Amino acid sequence: MARVPPGGTHGEDGPRAMPLETEVTAELRALVADLRPDHTDLLEALHRMQHRYGYVSAEAMRVVAEQLRVSVAHVYGATTYYSDFRVTPPAACTVTWCSGPACRLKNGTGVRDAMQAVLGVGLGAQTADGRIGLALGQCNGSCEQAPQIWIGERVVGQLTAARAVSIARALRDGADPAAVGLDHPGGRDG
Ligand code: FES
Repeated sequence: MARVPPGGTHGEDGPRAMPLETEVTAELRALVADLRPDHTDLLEALHRMQHRYGYVSAEAMRVVAEQLRVSVAHVYGATTYYSDFRVTPPAACTVTWCSGPACRLKNGTGVRDAMQAVLGVGLGAQTADGRIGLALGQCNGSCEQAPQIWIGERVVGQLTAARAVSIARALRDGADPAAVGLDHPGGRDG
């Protein structure tokens, strides 16, 4: 007859300690702890994750699925369906190109093309090293600065394609994004 080994049924090392919840997971859980366990709060949960971390990680999706008691596949499907959400971390510095009509009228597309050519990425993508991302932006009301981009939150306006090339080169070559474009007339306005 089979005998129960010393230490019970847990093997020679005895029972294993339950892994401690990491700080990250605890923080993720706290973010959605008040949401109801059904589908109706799914978008709210994803918005909270996106707002806090800039993207919705695999771990965040797992925590959301547990809290709402839906499958991870369901959460993943919603995250990737809506363009509001990212599933990868944002770039260290995001350059946003204004696609509004005033900027386009003043060769905004030339500015966009120059940035894309130098950085080697399109809108919505980021450089392979994750340092610089290019994003599509909408008019922010400061059309007197057209055509413009934002480096982080800072407007750099009244651009030319040539100026965009030099800004993109500086960013590509490792210049501090906070200092790039400051020497331009439209570079100091936020
Ligand atoms: S159209 Fe670009 S800021 Fe208004």
